[in-house]
Amino acid sequence: MEKLYPDSEVELTPFVAKHYDVLLNMVTLGFYRGFIRRAVASMKIKKKDEILDLGCGTGRNACLMYQYLGGGYVTGLDISEVMEKKFRKKCKNKPGAVFVRHRIDIPFNLGKKFDKVFISFVLHGFPQDVREVVIRNAFNHLKEEGSFHILDYGEFDLHKAPFYARFIFKKIECKYAFDYIGRDWKKILKEAGFTRFEEYKLAGRYARMLTAYKKEPGAKS
Ligand SMILES: C[S@@+](CC[C@H](N)C(=O)[O-])C[C@H]1O[C@@H](n2cnc3c(N)ncnc32)[C@H](O)[C@@H]1O
Repeated sequence: MEKLYPDSEVELTPFVAKHYDVLLNMVTLGFYRGFIRRAVASMKIKKKDEILDLGCGTGRNACLMYQYLGGGYVTGLDISEVMEKKFRKKCKNKPGAVFVRHRIDIPFNLGKKFDKVFISFVLHGFPQDVREVVIRNAFNHLKEEGSFHILDYGEFDLHKAPFYARFIFKKIECKYAFDYIGRDWKKILKEAGFTRFEEYKLAGRYARMLTAYKKEPGAKS
């Protein structure tokens, strides 16, 4: 399949998609296992939550979120056929984990609202105007009390990063990621309508879970 954004690295080759979880564990020397568990734990998922996972990949994250649910559900959207197979296999005993083959980079309406929208290591891989569409999709699919959870790179100056961090980033990342780390994401999300933020730093300042709330607590709708 031809790439929608030829300069992007988040549209994976079939090989990388097929082995995504293993490759991630390998390149992070196993560090990713604990990383993703801590990130998901920071979402404060409630049993009945209805969660939308944008660019859900293999279903690894959906399965982790599922552990916190009891009656709630997680809907994963992704464009990749390989990811669809992986997700369906991984979540086959989890009736509340549903995969929908769908693009997230164009406006869409699933006809329902969610308590939480999650996006993990996808946003950085799009051009800025496309990221803004993804953010609008997230905002429009959230209930009034809902929250948007962005797990991705933090904001940092690559020139000031240690040699090994610069080396890895330059090796694995596309041009959009270089732009992503230099932007003020709270300001961008505020302009999109979000009112309040929480930040959970992971891997020093190089990655974070940024939570954006749609509504101020106690505010009238
Ligand atoms: C780097 S992977 C991250 C997967 C998953 N979120 C995770 O953290 O393990 C990026 C994912 O985004 C998906 N993706 C890329 N472009 C997309 C688009 N336009 N619409 C929906 N999914 C997309 C890819 O198929 C891939 O599964």
